[in-house]
Amino acid sequence: MTRSPQKPLLAVLAGETRTPPPVWLMRQAGRYLAEYRQVRSKAANFIEFCFTPELAAEVTLQPIRRFGFDAAIMFADILLIPIALGRKVWFVTGEGPKLEPFNPAEFEGLTQGRVAEVLAPIGETLRLVKPQLPDNTTLIGFAGSPWTVATYMVEGGGSKDRYATRVAAWSDPIAFDGMLDRIADATAEYLIMQANAGAEVLKLFDSWAEGLPEPLFERVIIQPTRRIIDQVRAAGIDVPIIGFPRGAGTLYPRYARETGVTALALDTAVQPEWARSVLPDNLPVQGHLDPSVLRAGGAMLDSEVDRLLEAWAGRPHIFNLGHGITPDVPVAHVEQLLARIRRSA
Ligand code: CP3
Repeated sequence: MTRSPQKPLLAVLAGETRTPPPVWLMRQAGRYLAEYRQVRSKAANFIEFCFTPELAAEVTLQPIRRFGFDAAIMFADILLIPIALGRKVWFVTGEGPKLEPFNPAEFEGLTQGRVAEVLAPIGETLRLVKPQLPDNTTLIGFAGSPWTVATYMVEGGGSKDRYATRVAAWSDPIAFDGMLDRIADATAEYLIMQANAGAEVLKLFDSWAEGLPEPLFERVIIQPTRRIIDQVRAAGIDVPIIGFPRGAGTLYPRYARETGVTALALDTAVQPEWARSVLPDNLPVQGHLDPSVLRAGGAMLDSEVDRLLEAWAGRPHIFNLGHGITPDVPVAHVEQLLARIRRSA
Protein backbone atom coordinates (compact mmCIF):
# COMPACT_ATOMS: atom_id res chain seq x y z
CA MET A 1 0.00 0.00 0.00
CA THR A 2 1.35 3.43 -0.86
CA ARG A 3 0.98 6.13 1.71
CA SER A 4 0.50 9.62 0.41
CA PRO A 5 2.83 12.05 2.15
CA GLN A 6 0.77 14.02 4.62
CA LYS A 7 1.26 17.41 6.14
CA PRO A 8 2.21 16.99 9.83
CA LEU A 9 -0.67 19.10 11.12
CA LEU A 10 -3.22 17.14 9.09
CA ALA A 11 -1.66 13.86 10.20
CA VAL A 12 -2.11 14.81 13.85
CA LEU A 13 -5.68 15.95 13.23
CA ALA A 14 -6.27 12.53 11.67
CA GLY A 15 -5.21 10.96 14.98
CA GLU A 16 -1.51 10.30 14.39
CA THR A 17 1.20 11.16 16.90
CA ARG A 18 4.20 13.12 15.63
CA THR A 19 7.49 13.71 17.46
CA PRO A 20 8.21 16.57 17.55
CA PRO A 21 4.63 17.82 17.29
CA PRO A 22 3.61 20.27 14.56
CA VAL A 23 3.58 23.85 15.82
CA TRP A 24 1.92 27.17 15.03
CA LEU A 25 0.95 30.12 17.23
CA MET A 26 -2.37 31.88 17.70
CA ARG A 27 -2.06 35.44 16.33
CA GLN A 28 1.22 34.48 14.68
CA ALA A 29 0.65 37.25 12.12
CA GLY A 30 0.83 40.32 14.30
CA ARG A 31 2.51 43.30 15.80
CA TYR A 32 5.45 41.42 17.34
CA LEU A 33 6.77 41.19 13.75
CA ALA A 34 8.39 44.31 12.23
CA GLU A 35 7.39 43.14 8.75
CA TYR A 36 3.73 42.98 9.90
CA ARG A 37 3.85 46.54 11.25
CA GLN A 38 5.30 47.67 7.97
CA VAL A 39 2.46 46.18 5.87
CA ARG A 40 -0.15 47.19 8.47
CA SER A 41 0.87 50.85 8.05
CA LYS A 42 -0.26 50.72 4.40
CA ALA A 43 -3.92 50.17 5.30
CA ALA A 44 -6.18 53.02 6.42
CA ASN A 45 -7.57 50.97 9.29
CA PHE A 46 -7.68 47.40 10.59
CA ILE A 47 -10.97 46.44 8.87
CA GLU A 48 -9.69 47.74 5.51
CA PHE A 49 -6.56 45.70 6.12
CA CYS A 50 -8.59 42.50 6.59
CA PHE A 51 -10.60 43.26 3.44
CA THR A 52 -7.54 43.83 1.22
CA PRO A 53 -6.57 40.33 0.01
CA GLU A 54 -3.06 41.28 -1.21
CA LEU A 55 -2.11 42.74 2.18
CA ALA A 56 -3.87 40.02 4.19
CA ALA A 57 -2.19 37.29 2.14
CA GLU A 58 1.20 38.90 2.62
CA VAL A 59 0.95 39.02 6.44
CA THR A 60 -0.48 35.47 6.52
CA LEU A 61 2.72 34.29 4.82
CA GLN A 62 5.20 36.35 6.86
CA PRO A 63 5.42 34.06 9.92
CA ILE A 64 5.71 31.03 7.61
CA ARG A 65 8.71 32.53 5.81
CA ARG A 66 10.37 33.62 9.02
CA PHE A 67 9.72 30.60 11.27
CA GLY A 68 8.51 27.74 9.07
CA PHE A 69 5.44 27.07 11.20
CA ASP A 70 3.41 23.98 10.31
CA ALA A 71 0.28 26.05 9.69
CA ALA A 72 -0.64 29.38 8.19
CA ILE A 73 -3.82 30.95 9.58
CA MET A 74 -5.60 33.27 7.19
CA PHE A 75 -5.39 36.89 8.25
CA ALA A 76 -8.83 38.21 9.16
CA ASP A 77 -10.79 38.81 12.37
CA ILE A 78 -13.70 37.20 14.20
CA LEU A 79 -15.54 40.55 14.08
CA LEU A 80 -16.10 40.47 10.32
CA ILE A 81 -19.26 38.37 10.78
CA PRO A 82 -21.11 41.22 12.57
CA ILE A 83 -20.33 43.37 9.51
CA ALA A 84 -21.95 40.75 7.24
CA LEU A 85 -24.96 40.86 9.60
CA GLY A 86 -25.26 44.59 9.03
CA ARG A 87 -23.55 45.87 12.22
CA LYS A 88 -20.95 48.63 12.31
CA VAL A 89 -17.50 47.59 13.57
CA TRP A 90 -14.39 49.74 13.92
CA PHE A 91 -11.08 49.49 15.78
CA VAL A 92 -9.67 52.24 17.96
CA THR A 93 -5.89 52.02 18.27
CA GLY A 94 -4.93 51.16 21.82
CA GLU A 95 -8.55 50.37 22.78
CA GLY A 96 -9.53 47.48 20.52
CA PRO A 97 -12.82 46.75 18.75
CA LYS A 98 -15.90 48.98 18.97
CA LEU A 99 -19.41 48.11 17.77
CA GLU A 100 -22.79 49.78 17.93
CA PRO A 101 -24.31 47.94 20.94
CA PHE A 102 -26.94 45.46 19.76
CA ASN A 103 -30.17 44.59 21.55
CA PRO A 104 -30.91 40.85 21.02
CA ALA A 105 -34.65 41.65 20.97
CA GLU A 106 -33.98 43.07 17.52
CA PHE A 107 -32.43 39.88 16.18
CA GLU A 108 -34.90 39.67 13.31
CA GLY A 109 -33.38 42.87 11.94
CA LEU A 110 -29.96 41.26 11.44
CA THR A 111 -29.12 41.08 7.75
CA GLN A 112 -29.25 37.61 6.26
CA GLY A 113 -27.84 36.27 3.04
CA ARG A 114 -24.96 38.71 2.55
CA VAL A 115 -22.07 36.59 3.84
CA ALA A 116 -20.82 35.44 0.43
CA GLU A 117 -20.83 38.97 -0.92
CA VAL A 118 -19.47 40.90 2.09
CA LEU A 119 -16.82 38.33 3.03
CA ALA A 120 -15.73 37.44 -0.51
CA PRO A 121 -12.33 39.21 -0.02
CA ILE A 122 -11.47 36.68 2.70
CA GLY A 123 -11.98 33.85 0.24
CA GLU A 124 -9.69 35.73 -2.11
CA THR A 125 -7.01 35.93 0.63
CA LEU A 126 -7.13 32.14 0.97
CA ARG A 127 -6.86 31.68 -2.81
CA LEU A 128 -3.82 33.96 -2.91
CA VAL A 129 -2.08 32.25 0.02
CA LYS A 130 -2.63 28.60 -0.87
CA PRO A 131 -0.29 28.24 -3.88
CA GLN A 132 2.46 30.14 -2.04
CA LEU A 133 2.65 27.76 0.91
CA PRO A 134 5.44 25.19 1.33
CA ASP A 135 4.23 21.59 0.76
CA ASN A 136 4.23 20.76 4.46
CA THR A 137 2.29 23.81 5.60
CA THR A 138 -1.43 23.56 6.34
CA LEU A 139 -3.82 26.44 5.66
CA ILE A 140 -6.24 27.21 8.50
CA GLY A 141 -9.46 29.21 8.17
CA PHE A 142 -11.47 30.36 11.18
CA ALA A 143 -14.43 32.17 12.63
CA GLY A 144 -15.53 33.30 16.07
CA SER A 145 -18.12 31.16 17.80
CA PRO A 146 -21.58 32.71 18.17
CA TRP A 147 -21.34 33.35 21.92
CA THR A 148 -17.98 35.17 21.68
CA VAL A 149 -19.12 37.20 18.66
CA ALA A 150 -22.39 38.01 20.48
CA THR A 151 -20.49 39.34 23.52
CA TYR A 152 -18.82 41.97 21.31
CA MET A 153 -22.11 42.80 19.57
CA VAL A 154 -24.12 43.20 22.78
CA GLU A 155 -21.45 44.96 24.86
CA GLY A 156 -20.38 47.20 21.97
CA GLY A 157 -16.78 45.95 22.28
CA GLY A 158 -14.64 44.04 24.72
CA SER A 159 -15.78 43.96 28.34
CA LYS A 160 -14.48 42.81 31.69
CA ASP A 161 -16.95 40.03 32.40
CA ARG A 162 -19.60 40.05 29.63
CA TYR A 163 -22.19 40.97 32.25
CA ALA A 164 -24.74 42.61 29.92
CA THR A 165 -24.54 39.65 27.54
CA ARG A 166 -25.10 37.13 30.34
CA VAL A 167 -28.05 39.11 31.68
CA ALA A 168 -29.56 39.23 28.17
CA ALA A 169 -29.06 35.48 27.72
CA TRP A 170 -30.99 34.72 30.94
CA SER A 171 -33.70 37.38 30.58
CA ASP A 172 -34.89 36.79 27.05
CA PRO A 173 -33.81 33.35 25.86
CA ILE A 174 -36.02 33.42 22.77
CA ALA A 175 -34.47 36.61 21.44
CA PHE A 176 -30.97 35.69 22.59
CA ASP A 177 -31.02 32.23 21.05
CA GLY A 178 -32.60 33.70 17.90
CA MET A 179 -29.62 36.03 17.67
CA LEU A 180 -27.16 33.16 18.23
CA ASP A 181 -28.87 31.12 15.50
CA ARG A 182 -28.53 33.99 13.03
CA ILE A 183 -24.83 34.34 13.90
CA ALA A 184 -24.36 30.55 13.66
CA ASP A 185 -25.99 30.30 10.24
CA ALA A 186 -23.88 33.15 8.86
CA THR A 187 -20.78 31.56 10.40
CA ALA A 188 -21.51 28.17 8.83
CA GLU A 189 -21.89 29.79 5.42
CA TYR A 190 -18.61 31.66 5.96
CA LEU A 191 -16.71 28.49 6.96
CA ILE A 192 -18.09 26.57 3.98
CA MET A 193 -16.89 29.40 1.74
CA GLN A 194 -13.44 29.23 3.38
CA ALA A 195 -13.14 25.47 2.84
CA ASN A 196 -14.18 25.90 -0.79
CA ALA A 197 -11.51 28.61 -1.15
CA GLY A 198 -8.78 26.27 0.08
CA ALA A 199 -8.82 26.19 3.89
CA GLU A 200 -7.69 22.70 4.96
CA VAL A 201 -8.64 23.08 8.62
CA LEU A 202 -11.25 25.29 10.29
CA LYS A 203 -11.01 26.70 13.80
CA LEU A 204 -13.80 28.10 15.95
CA PHE A 205 -12.66 30.67 18.51
CA ASP A 206 -14.86 30.82 21.61
CA SER A 207 -12.49 33.10 23.48
CA TRP A 208 -15.08 34.07 26.12
CA ALA A 209 -16.48 30.66 27.05
CA GLU A 210 -15.14 31.15 30.56
CA GLY A 211 -17.27 31.35 33.69
CA LEU A 212 -20.62 30.13 32.38
CA PRO A 213 -22.82 27.86 34.50
CA GLU A 214 -23.47 24.51 32.84
CA PRO A 215 -27.05 25.24 31.61
CA LEU A 216 -25.90 28.45 29.94
CA PHE A 217 -22.77 26.77 28.55
CA GLU A 218 -24.97 24.08 27.05
CA ARG A 219 -27.29 26.66 25.45
CA VAL A 220 -24.90 29.34 24.22
CA ILE A 221 -21.68 27.38 23.59
CA ILE A 222 -22.48 23.74 22.83
CA GLN A 223 -25.71 24.12 20.86
CA PRO A 224 -24.62 26.92 18.50
CA THR A 225 -21.28 25.18 17.89
CA ARG A 226 -23.12 21.94 17.09
CA ARG A 227 -25.44 23.89 14.76
CA ILE A 228 -22.49 25.30 12.80
CA ILE A 229 -20.68 21.97 12.52
CA ASP A 230 -23.85 20.16 11.42
CA GLN A 231 -24.35 22.70 8.63
CA VAL A 232 -20.71 22.54 7.53
CA ARG A 233 -20.86 18.73 7.39
CA ALA A 234 -24.25 18.80 5.61
CA ALA A 235 -22.59 20.90 2.90
CA GLY A 236 -20.16 18.04 2.28
CA ILE A 237 -17.17 19.79 3.89
CA ASP A 238 -15.09 17.17 5.70
CA VAL A 239 -12.05 19.19 6.80
CA PRO A 240 -10.99 18.87 10.47
CA ILE A 241 -12.50 21.44 12.85
CA ILE A 242 -10.63 22.64 15.93
CA GLY A 243 -12.78 24.03 18.75
CA PHE A 244 -11.39 26.51 21.28
CA PRO A 245 -13.81 27.14 24.15
CA ARG A 246 -11.27 29.15 26.14
CA GLY A 247 -11.74 28.87 29.89
CA ALA A 248 -14.34 26.08 29.64
CA GLY A 249 -12.64 24.27 32.56
CA THR A 250 -14.48 21.12 33.60
CA LEU A 251 -16.90 21.58 30.69
CA TYR A 252 -14.19 20.87 28.08
CA PRO A 253 -15.12 17.14 27.97
CA ARG A 254 -18.81 17.89 27.29
CA TYR A 255 -17.80 20.32 24.56
CA ALA A 256 -15.49 17.68 23.04
CA ARG A 257 -18.17 14.98 23.07
CA GLU A 258 -21.22 16.99 22.04
CA THR A 259 -20.20 19.61 19.47
CA GLY A 260 -18.73 17.41 16.76
CA VAL A 261 -15.28 19.04 16.81
CA THR A 262 -12.33 17.02 15.46
CA ALA A 263 -9.83 18.47 17.92
CA LEU A 264 -9.73 20.63 21.01
CA ALA A 265 -7.59 23.70 21.61
CA LEU A 266 -6.77 24.00 25.32
CA ASP A 267 -6.12 27.15 27.32
CA THR A 268 -3.22 27.78 29.69
CA ALA A 269 -5.08 26.69 32.83
CA VAL A 270 -5.92 23.14 31.72
CA GLN A 271 -4.02 20.49 33.63
CA PRO A 272 -2.74 17.94 31.10
CA GLU A 273 -3.04 14.95 33.44
CA TRP A 274 -6.69 15.78 34.12
CA ALA A 275 -7.40 16.40 30.44
CA ARG A 276 -5.82 13.09 29.43
CA SER A 277 -8.04 11.25 31.86
CA VAL A 278 -11.36 12.89 30.92
CA LEU A 279 -11.13 13.66 27.18
CA PRO A 280 -12.11 11.07 24.56
CA ASP A 281 -9.15 8.73 23.85
CA ASN A 282 -7.08 9.87 20.92
CA LEU A 283 -8.92 13.19 20.48
CA PRO A 284 -6.21 15.48 19.06
CA VAL A 285 -5.39 18.40 21.36
CA GLN A 286 -3.73 21.71 20.67
CA GLY A 287 -2.05 23.95 23.16
CA HIS A 288 -1.33 25.44 25.53
CA LEU A 289 1.83 27.28 26.49
CA ASP A 290 1.25 30.43 28.53
CA PRO A 291 1.88 33.47 26.25
CA SER A 292 3.50 35.23 29.21
CA VAL A 293 6.23 32.60 29.54
CA LEU A 294 6.96 33.12 25.85
CA ARG A 295 7.41 36.81 26.66
CA ALA A 296 9.60 35.96 29.65
CA GLY A 297 11.86 33.57 27.74
CA GLY A 298 14.97 32.07 29.36
CA ALA A 299 15.12 28.82 31.30
CA MET A 300 11.46 29.05 32.32
CA LEU A 301 10.40 28.99 28.66
CA ASP A 302 12.45 25.85 28.03
CA SER A 303 11.09 24.08 31.08
CA GLU A 304 7.48 24.94 30.25
CA VAL A 305 7.95 23.69 26.68
CA ASP A 306 9.47 20.46 28.04
CA ARG A 307 6.63 20.02 30.52
CA LEU A 308 4.00 20.24 27.77
CA LEU A 309 5.95 17.99 25.38
CA GLU A 310 6.22 15.34 28.09
CA ALA A 311 2.63 15.72 29.23
CA TRP A 312 1.28 15.15 25.72
CA ALA A 313 3.81 12.58 24.51
CA GLY A 314 2.18 9.59 22.83
CA ARG A 315 -1.03 11.52 22.01
CA PRO A 316 -1.97 13.46 18.88
CA HIS A 317 -0.76 16.92 19.90
CA ILE A 318 -0.29 20.23 18.10
CA PHE A 319 2.00 22.64 19.93
CA ASN A 320 0.54 26.14 20.32
CA LEU A 321 -0.09 28.82 22.91
CA GLY A 322 -3.05 28.81 25.28
CA HIS A 323 -4.03 32.21 23.83
CA GLY A 324 -2.65 34.67 21.28
CA ILE A 325 0.96 35.83 21.13
CA THR A 326 1.35 39.36 22.52
CA PRO A 327 2.95 42.28 20.62
CA ASP A 328 5.80 42.52 23.18
CA VAL A 329 7.27 39.06 22.46
CA PRO A 330 10.83 39.22 21.07
CA VAL A 331 11.32 37.26 17.86
CA ALA A 332 14.30 35.55 19.51
CA HIS A 333 11.93 33.95 22.03
CA VAL A 334 9.84 32.43 19.23
CA GLU A 335 13.08 31.08 17.74
CA GLN A 336 14.03 29.63 21.12
CA LEU A 337 10.60 28.00 21.41
CA LEU A 338 10.89 26.37 17.99
CA ALA A 339 14.45 25.17 18.60
CA ARG A 340 13.36 23.58 21.86
CA ILE A 341 10.35 21.83 20.32
CA ARG A 342 12.30 20.63 17.30
CA ARG A 343 15.55 19.65 19.03
CA SER A 344 14.56 16.00 19.11
CA ALA A 345 13.94 15.93 15.36
O1 CP3 B 1 -2.50 35.33 13.09
C1 CP3 B 1 -3.66 34.99 13.36
O2 CP3 B 1 -3.95 34.28 14.36
C2 CP3 B 1 -4.76 35.31 12.36
C3 CP3 B 1 -5.48 36.51 12.54
C4 CP3 B 1 -6.40 36.78 13.73
C5 CP3 B 1 -6.60 38.09 14.23
N1 CP3 B 1 -7.61 38.06 15.14
C6 CP3 B 1 -5.86 39.27 13.76
C7 CP3 B 1 -5.83 40.48 14.62
C8 CP3 B 1 -7.26 35.94 14.44
C9 CP3 B 1 -7.41 34.42 14.37
C10 CP3 B 1 -8.03 36.77 15.32
C11 CP3 B 1 -9.10 36.25 16.20
C12 CP3 B 1 -9.72 37.15 17.17
N2 CP3 B 1 -10.02 38.48 17.03
C13 CP3 B 1 -10.20 36.73 18.42
C14 CP3 B 1 -10.18 35.32 18.95
C15 CP3 B 1 -8.85 34.93 19.47
C16 CP3 B 1 -8.47 35.59 20.77
O3 CP3 B 1 -7.45 36.29 20.77
O4 CP3 B 1 -9.16 35.38 21.76
C17 CP3 B 1 -10.76 37.86 19.06
C18 CP3 B 1 -11.39 37.89 20.44
C19 CP3 B 1 -10.66 38.94 18.16
C20 CP3 B 1 -11.15 40.34 18.34
C21 CP3 B 1 -10.07 41.30 18.30
N3 CP3 B 1 -9.34 41.64 17.17
C22 CP3 B 1 -9.56 42.09 19.38
C23 CP3 B 1 -10.07 42.01 20.80
C24 CP3 B 1 -8.54 42.88 18.86
C25 CP3 B 1 -7.79 43.98 19.57
C26 CP3 B 1 -6.74 43.44 20.46
C27 CP3 B 1 -5.39 43.91 20.06
O5 CP3 B 1 -4.46 43.12 20.20
O6 CP3 B 1 -5.25 45.07 19.62
C28 CP3 B 1 -8.39 42.56 17.50
C29 CP3 B 1 -7.42 43.15 16.55
C30 CP3 B 1 -6.51 42.22 15.84
N4 CP3 B 1 -6.91 41.07 15.22
C31 CP3 B 1 -5.11 42.40 15.65
C32 CP3 B 1 -4.68 41.30 14.88
C33 CP3 B 1 -3.29 41.05 14.37
C34 CP3 B 1 -4.28 43.57 16.13
C35 CP3 B 1 -4.71 44.85 15.48
C36 CP3 B 1 -3.71 45.56 14.63
O7 CP3 B 1 -2.75 44.97 14.08
O8 CP3 B 1 -3.88 46.78 14.46
